[in-house]
Amino acid sequence: MTLNPNLQPLQLFAMDVDPFAKDEIFISGLPDYLKQFDRQRGQLIPILQKVQQELTYLPAEALQAVADYLEIPVAEVYGVATFYNQFRFNPPGKHQIKVCLGTACHVKGGDIILENFERKLGIKEGETTEDREFSIERVACVGCCALAPVVLVGEDVQGHMAPSKVEGLFVRIQVEKEMAQRKKKRHETGE
Ligand code: FES
Repeated sequence: MTLNPNLQPLQLFAMDVDPFAKDEIFISGLPDYLKQFDRQRGQLIPILQKVQQELTYLPAEALQAVADYLEIPVAEVYGVATFYNQFRFNPPGKHQIKVCLGTACHVKGGDIILENFERKLGIKEGETTEDREFSIERVACVGCCALAPVVLVGEDVQGHMAPSKVEGLFVRIQVEKEMAQRKKKRHETGE
């Protein structure tokens, strides 16, 4: 698919475009995009917030572009971005797995559940799989301690999690994905 490089980020994101291509187009347009901000050090945080709002995360190329625009060292941009919890450096996965490590979940083995997800996906908490299907993060109490240990997959609450249930969750996601693909195909072919 050939994309118009003049498309605005929101137009791009409204289209059914591969997320890798979206990022690439947005990042290549960053030098122009940043011109809407004053070229002042004090604009660093608002710029980072806006770029993250558009991209959903802050890749290294974006941090470099911001540093170039503000004419400050990229290490300084990293330093500020990593200081604040609001910034993330990996794209959220299509399926975001949030493992609760609040007190109740921690006591009931939340950290073991987290480790099972990490092993299964071959990534660590805070990371995203290369195909961007899954990301894992730890969260504080999500308000359903009676179901501890708790995991959120997207918006779905999975209570009373156990290591043996981790595999089952992936099977379910795969089945749902295949069903959605079949439905889409039927829709496209008019069957
Ligand atoms: S501590 Fe996990 S839901 Fe409350």
